[in-house]
Amino acid sequence: MKIAFAGPGVPKAGTIVVGVADDRTLTAPAAALDRQTGGALTRAMTASRFTGKRDQFLSILAPANLSAGRVLLAGLGKLDAVDALQLEALGGGVHAQLAATGETEAAVLLDGLDLPKIAADRAAAAVAFGCRLRSYRFDKYRTRLESDKKPALAKLTVHGPAAAAAKKAFATLDAVADGVFETRDLVSEPGNVVYPETLAAQARELESLGVEVEVLDEKKLQKLGAGALLAVGRGSARPPRLIVLRWQGAKDKDAAPVAFVGKGITFDTGGISIKPAGGMEDMKWDMAGAGAVIGALKALAGRKAKANVVGIVAAAENMPDGNATRPGDIVASLSGQTIEINNTDAEGRLVLADALSYVQERFKPSAVIDLATLTGAIIIALGHEQAGLFSNDDELAAKLQAAGAAVGERLWRMPLADGYNKLIDSDAADVKNISGSRDAGSVVAAQFLQRFVKDTKWAHLDIAGMAWATKDSATVPKGATAFGVRLLDRFVADTAET
Ligand code: BES
Ligand code: MN
Ligand code: ZN
Repeated sequence: MKIAFAGPGVPKAGTIVVGVADDRTLTAPAAALDRQTGGALTRAMTASRFTGKRDQFLSILAPANLSAGRVLLAGLGKLDAVDALQLEALGGGVHAQLAATGETEAAVLLDGLDLPKIAADRAAAAVAFGCRLRSYRFDKYRTRLESDKKPALAKLTVHGPAAAAAKKAFATLDAVADGVFETRDLVSEPGNVVYPETLAAQARELESLGVEVEVLDEKKLQKLGAGALLAVGRGSARPPRLIVLRWQGAKDKDAAPVAFVGKGITFDTGGISIKPAGGMEDMKWDMAGAGAVIGALKALAGRKAKANVVGIVAAAENMPDGNATRPGDIVASLSGQTIEINNTDAEGRLVLADALSYVQERFKPSAVIDLATLTGAIIIALGHEQAGLFSNDDELAAKLQAAGAAVGERLWRMPLADGYNKLIDSDAADVKNISGSRDAGSVVAAQFLQRFVKDTKWAHLDIAGMAWATKDSATVPKGATAFGVRLLDRFVADTAET
C-alpha cells in the first residue's frame, strides 16, 4: 500500500474519510461534504445508529454531486480525548471497512481538526501507521486465493495542515511497521520453513540495515558450554543456534547496551514429554519472542535509533528422538549451574538460561529484557489481554509498563519471591526445570530464569497469550501479532536514546 500526505483538498475519486465527533458533530471537511451533497451525510447519520462515537464507521455510497464513489464517516468520540492510539485504530478501521469493498484508493481528511492531545503532523502519521499495520497479510502459501478475496486498497492519502512534517513523523513509524511485519512473517512461517538455521539466515538479512549479526553454531555452543540450549536441540535434525544481533546507534559506541533476549523454539512438540496432538500446530509460533527481538532490531536500525542495543535469539527445535533429552537428565548450563530436566516440555526456560548467561557475561548490558511464549499458565492468568511482566527492578518494570501502555501492548506485573524460588530446588542437581505442581506455573518459570540473572536489571515478558490472535483487532489482523516489537521500540525511544 502506498501512503502519502497532502495539504487540504478533496480528492476526485475513491473513498473520502471524514471524522465525526460525538453527537453527530461534523468536523470541518465533513460539514463541507455535507453541504456539497445536499445533506447526504446528515441524512445517512439520522437513518442509522451512527452517532460519532469512537470506532464507529458509516459508509455512504455514491452521494450526489460528488465524483468520489464513497464517503466513509469515522467516529472520533470526544475530541479532547483523541490520542495517537485512537488515531491508529481509526486508520486500521478504515482499512478493515474498505477491505471487502474492492476500493483501491482512500483519502482521510484531517484539516480543520484541532486535537488538544496530539499535534496535526503526528495525528496524520498515526492514521497512516494504523492503516498500514492493519493491512498486513500472510498470503504467500495461498496459491488459489481469488482476487476478489484480497483487499484492493492500494493508496492511502492523509490530508491535513502539516503534510511535510507528517511525512517525516511517518517515516519513523514506517520503520517500526517494517519491524512488526518482519516479526509477523517469521512467526507465521511454519516449522518446516523457519528452523534455527533459517531463522539465523533471516536475522542476517538485517546486516543490510547496519545490524551486526553473529551466529553461533552447535560446535561453538559445545565449546562454550551452553549445555541447556544444546539439551533442548538434541532430539532435532535441525541443530540449535545462538544468534547475536547488535545495533550500535549511540554516539558513545562503548556505552552499555540494552539487551533483548528471545525464546526461539521454532517448533515445540514437548520433546519426550510430548504434547497432546490437538492444537500442537500452534507451537510453530513458540519462537514469537525471538521474532519480536529480530523485528525490534529491524525497527530500531530502520529508524536509526540513537542507542546501543543487543538482541540475542536462542533458537532450537524441541523434538522427541532417540537422541533427545530424557526426563530426569542432568545437564550443565553455560552459567555452570547443573539443571535436572524433569520435563522436556519446559524447554523455553532452558534455552533462555544460557542466552541470559551469555548476554550478561559478554555485553554487561544496562538492562536485559527477555520475551518468551513461556507458559500456558500465563494464558490462564491473563488471557489474551496483557502479557505477564516479571522483574527484579521496579524502575525497569514501570518503564516497560509505560512503554507498553503507550503503544497498546499492555503488561501486568507478576510476583517473584523466595517461596516460589524454593519450588525448583532439586535433590539431584543445582536446580530443576519444573516444580512438579501446576501451581503458579508462570511464576515458577520466571523464578527459574532468575537463577541465571546476576547483578543485572532484568525483566521477563511471558507473551504466550499475546503472540497470536484468533480474531482481528484495530491494528492487528488475526494471526501473528508481533507483540513486543512496538513496546521495545518505545522503551528504547523513551529510556535509551541519547
Ligand atoms: N511453549 C510452551 C508454552 C505455551 C503453551 C505457549 C501454550 C503458548 C500456548 C512451553 O514450552 C511449555 O510447554 N510450557 C509448559 C510448562 C510445563 C511443562 C511446566 C506449559 O505451560 O504447560
Ligand atoms: Mn514446551
Ligand atoms: Zn515452548
